[in-house]
Amino acid sequence: MEVKIEKLVYGGKGIGKIDGKTCFVPYVLPGETVKVKIKKEKKSFVECDLEEVIEPSPDRVNPLCKYFTYCGGCDYQHIPYEKQVEIKKEILEETLLRIGKLENLKVDKVIPSLEAFRYRNRTQLKVYGERVGFYKRDSKEIVNIDACLLLKEDLDNGINGVRNTLPFLTFQPLEVHMYSSNQDEMLVKFIYPRRIKRFPLGLKHLRQFISKNIKGVGIYRKKPDGYTERLFTIGDIFAFEKVGDITYRVSIDSFFQVNRFQVSNLIEEVVSFLKDKRYKTVIDLYCGVGTLTLPSARFAENVIGVESNPYAVQDANHNRKLNKMKNVSFFRMESRDAIFLIDEKKPEVIVVDPPRTGLSQKLIDKINLTTSVEKVIYVSCNPSTLARDINLFKEGSFHLKSVKMIDMFPQTYHIESIVLLER
Ligand SMILES: C[S@@+](CC[C@H](N)C(=O)[O-])C[C@H]1O[C@@H](n2cnc3c(N)ncnc32)[C@H](O)[C@@H]1O
Repeated sequence: MEVKIEKLVYGGKGIGKIDGKTCFVPYVLPGETVKVKIKKEKKSFVECDLEEVIEPSPDRVNPLCKYFTYCGGCDYQHIPYEKQVEIKKEILEETLLRIGKLENLKVDKVIPSLEAFRYRNRTQLKVYGERVGFYKRDSKEIVNIDACLLLKEDLDNGINGVRNTLPFLTFQPLEVHMYSSNQDEMLVKFIYPRRIKRFPLGLKHLRQFISKNIKGVGIYRKKPDGYTERLFTIGDIFAFEKVGDITYRVSIDSFFQVNRFQVSNLIEEVVSFLKDKRYKTVIDLYCGVGTLTLPSARFAENVIGVESNPYAVQDANHNRKLNKMKNVSFFRMESRDAIFLIDEKKPEVIVVDPPRTGLSQKLIDKINLTTSVEKVIYVSCNPSTLARDINLFKEGSFHLKSVKMIDMFPQTYHIESIVLLER
């Protein structure tokens, strides 16, 4: 079956029509004519597999990775990097116009990644039998890989290292996660389907097999609800990141921005919205280890970070002291419970950097009703929930002042943006 691709949409696929019905096809470019096979037919749309590109776009390039289209990790390796960024900008604008119901919207700055490969400082390998790799697209089948071009070199080499470790383990893990900081300190997590009491290898062996820069290892159990429980650790489970003159401690269970080339750019853009005057109080919701909180403290009298992960809050408090910042405090709580903090502290600026689900209606209602709040700086990794939330902020008379796109995830469909809302 032949399809002409009209455009790419959020999620990485292209759309066209089959018998008047919208169809979704992966690994295509706008304007291409492709041969497809129907995978799933729904009432209003059709999911297809790409069989052959009949008329390729002049933009199409050969992917660098031999696993591209087998492995589900990348969506855009057939597209030159500059074009990927252009397509993401169009999708971001289109999503904000359609869901956010915004008029005259333009992304006013695009920040591409300095490197389009080797940017990731973190990976989550799946393990089954002798297979070590990532899931296939739309599947739970593991693609066995020996390299990933998105990963920082030590993590990439670690893939075969993990494979070589497997025969020495008494029980097989479900997943092995690796994180390597910009100071080249590696932390590794082994995740098991059940409790285990001891791990058969020490740091010395793991350094020989996986990477000589391993600092610490954590052993975990995946609970039936999908969350992981830390069972025990080996070695030092804290890595350090240096961004400008700030040092961050990141523990094995804390989040740190994944694209090592974009962290400083993200910080700079967020902070640029705080420079117009000396703000009295800024609240940073979903603050992690304080990545945005600490730099913001240079431009405000008081900054308060809110984070639900207890390990990240411990890191954030450590980082506050490490960097000698007296005007910062951190609270361990769910952001939806930060409502009382907003009431009490009456911030002028609220920074939010939520997971893909975005903000709760209750939190937005509270911000809308808090007249002290002049600005909301929204860092988003999902244009759909961002657009939904911007629309809800309109009820508090917030207007969209600026949209910047920062490409955190080259070769994938993921879109990160920084939005400024003002009353
Ligand atoms: C996208 S990360 C951003 C972290 C930080 N702003 C940074 O730049 O590194 C989201 C953070 O929100 C935290 N988080 C997730 N759900 C939360 C919730 N309901 N309440 C508070 N924090 C939450 C996560 O633990 C994570 O640290």
